[in-house]
Amino acid sequence: MDRSVATRSPFRQSPFLAVLDGAVVDPPPFWMMRQAGRYLPEYRQVRAEAGDFLTLCYTPKLAAEVTLQPIRRYGFDAAIIFSDILVVPHALGVGLTFEAGEGPRLSPVTDAAGVAALADRLDPAKVDPVYAAIAQVRAVLPAETALIGFCGAPWTVATYMVAGRGTDDQAPARLMALREEALFQTLIDRLVEASITHLAGQVAAGADAVQIFDTWSGVLDPHSFGRWCAEPLRRIVAGLRAIHPDVPVIAFPKGATLEALEQLADCGINAIGLDWSADRVAARRRLSAKVALQGNLDPLRLIAGGAALEEEVARIRADFAGARHIFNLGHGIRPETPLAHVEALVDAVRRSR
Ligand code: CP3
Repeated sequence: MDRSVATRSPFRQSPFLAVLDGAVVDPPPFWMMRQAGRYLPEYRQVRAEAGDFLTLCYTPKLAAEVTLQPIRRYGFDAAIIFSDILVVPHALGVGLTFEAGEGPRLSPVTDAAGVAALADRLDPAKVDPVYAAIAQVRAVLPAETALIGFCGAPWTVATYMVAGRGTDDQAPARLMALREEALFQTLIDRLVEASITHLAGQVAAGADAVQIFDTWSGVLDPHSFGRWCAEPLRRIVAGLRAIHPDVPVIAFPKGATLEALEQLADCGINAIGLDWSADRVAARRRLSAKVALQGNLDPLRLIAGGAALEEEVARIRADFAGARHIFNLGHGIRPETPLAHVEALVDAVRRSR
């Protein structure tokens, strides 16, 4: 289906939403994880004015502005609301700061008292600004451009809460899950509930679809993946659909094996985001009857540019030709990415084959 056909019934006007609904669109709809961010000079300017990262997240006017910046510059098919996955623990009462150049610091949740101290409801002072920013963005976004809300998957969010920071191997959360299984289950249960509430709030505010980021799903053994990644995802999707029956859901389980991805494809989601290590042909064969596929350019190819970029874009498009595909990176765009390479990527993705 070409883009003009995708805008006709029964599929929605947005090429991105049409693919999530079941259409094949060529050239594929395109957005980039972390598309609002430090590679853009206009982002760095607003970020400097805001002072710190959380002020930017919690000031609707500024969050809306940086959400729109990549849409203005590149005309992506979807905007993703500017926020962070750690807003959810913050709204549950966990202390959170972002130190320049060092990443997030949280007050660690390491024992039963820490889990019991989590708030019963999301602090409106933390989540209402996210919903206000979504409403502001949706009000000015072109009708054909979708707006994506998001949250972190419970497992990935828990890895930051238990360690109090990012870690190389997520050992603190993995050990808690092994040593204190019931306590860890309680933490995951709290995050499942909070995720449903936060995603539903974003959809009510105007998000057209949601993505659930499971950045650290690749470190778990298959049994643990089922318990801490697949099962919570299934519950989040069911809980969200009980409130918003038709909202499309994309899962991004970074580093997950093909067998693990197959478990997720049965969780009621509409699409799976593949990282750059995924075997596209195998993923297409085993998953595309159930879900659309999103991805999966290595962000380093976008830094390198030239043939390293162009050839892989051509391979990605060939591998997904005739399938439901949303073009994206295999993880977030990095701050050092040259703008000229992003322009080259936009041209290559939009070019007819
Ligand atoms: O994609 C977008 O443009 C929307 C905004 C968005 C951010 N973070 C903004 C951000 C999204 C969707 C996220 C998700 C997120 N946040 C994830 C999952 C996806 C992934 O990248 O793996 C994770 C693990 C986090 C937690 C987080 N936030 C970390 C570990 C860091 C520090 C590392 C870094 O990149 O600096 C952040 C900070 C952060 N979140 C920045 C941005 C633009 C950079 C902070 C800054 O501008 O100073």
